[in-house]
Amino acid sequence: MIIYGNVFYKGRIVECGIEIENGVIVDVGKDKRGKNVDGIIMPAGIDVHVHFRDFKESYKETIESGSLSALYGGVCLVVDQPNTNPPIVDEEIYFRRMEIAEKSTYVDYSLNLGLVEDNVDKIDEILRKIEEKHYVPAIGEVFLKDRMSVSYETLEKAKKTVNKLITVHAEDPNEEDDVKAEVKAVERCLSIGKFHFCHISTAKALDMIYHSESTSEVTPHHLLYSKEVVKLRVNPPLKSNDVRVALVRNFHKADILASDHAPHTLEEKWEGAPGFPGVETIYPMFFYMVKRGYIRINDLVEKFVVNPAKIFGFDRYGEIEVGKYANFAVFDPHSEKPIKARDLHSKAGWTIYEGLMAIFPKEVYMRGEKVLEDGEILIDKGFGKVL
Ligand code: DOR
Ligand code: ZN
Ligand code: ZN
Repeated sequence: MIIYGNVFYKGRIVECGIEIENGVIVDVGKDKRGKNVDGIIMPAGIDVHVHFRDFKESYKETIESGSLSALYGGVCLVVDQPNTNPPIVDEEIYFRRMEIAEKSTYVDYSLNLGLVEDNVDKIDEILRKIEEKHYVPAIGEVFLKDRMSVSYETLEKAKKTVNKLITVHAEDPNEEDDVKAEVKAVERCLSIGKFHFCHISTAKALDMIYHSESTSEVTPHHLLYSKEVVKLRVNPPLKSNDVRVALVRNFHKADILASDHAPHTLEEKWEGAPGFPGVETIYPMFFYMVKRGYIRINDLVEKFVVNPAKIFGFDRYGEIEVGKYANFAVFDPHSEKPIKARDLHSKAGWTIYEGLMAIFPKEVYMRGEKVLEDGEILIDKGFGKVL
């Protein structure tokens, strides 16, 4: 099969054909004619930080509803986090969750294993059992504060025993000031070793990570909103506008853009539950920003497709290139529209991005198969691959 159109290929938009066999791209070339696709054929997004809940929190999100939301947003692979209820802290619960995923995920799905004080001594054994079943877990997001928190010593121990990507939610538990809490935690972690730092919200921490072996992730909410404007809770908290602007100016230093999709019901939100849903809006909002010239298309692809695949070791994912899965999100640059919560598919049912302009994908392809067209899903749940 050949898909032909305007393709983001090797850093530029070129008119060409993508030849696909068994879901994998086997050739790309100007002379290849095939099925014509209108719009810009972009590589599908990879969101390495989502909370799809399930279990006792199925009322606010499930893998089914969360992955559907992802698909509508042009995201074909997600990394789910282990702070579920009950949490993913041993192989048994890991397998239980993967069983749910097998049956219900629309997009490809990967699950991080949780690190807690209680399992650090068995963490390599747990990982071994999980890997025996051919799953590819990272460890994350490791909390230094709040529920499921670990000490720096435990983190150090884990780092010594396992040779795995460990993603850290870096907020120092003993620091009141939220800017200092992040900077201090990152500083301390960097002295321990190489980590992937989730949702970095200060330029200072971003810069420290940039000059180290470690990698960083930023979120749309920390880039777009300051605490003066949005007074809702999220961890790490939104910062003052000065700190936010500095983060935006240093965006180029971030390795990954991820949503930290954290759905809660509206009632819970009013009662102060931390976090915002965002897996469906992240790619559409940033593609719109590309159209407006706020960010470069290459930077978006680097941070939302290429680096996520590279850092998490998803070899078959990434840019539109020979050897990769034919996963595409097709955007029509003329179809911009305001984000409305009622159009979105998370169970949360609300968004902090209400009214912001976005360009949602008109078509999505997974492994060469058209899975979404003009707002309609063409596959069943369980179509996604569990990694
Ligand atoms: O705001 C947040 N919400 N930050 C986190 O680290 C966890 C997340 C959640 O699970 O709701
Ligand atoms: Zn976090
Ligand atoms: Zn998170």
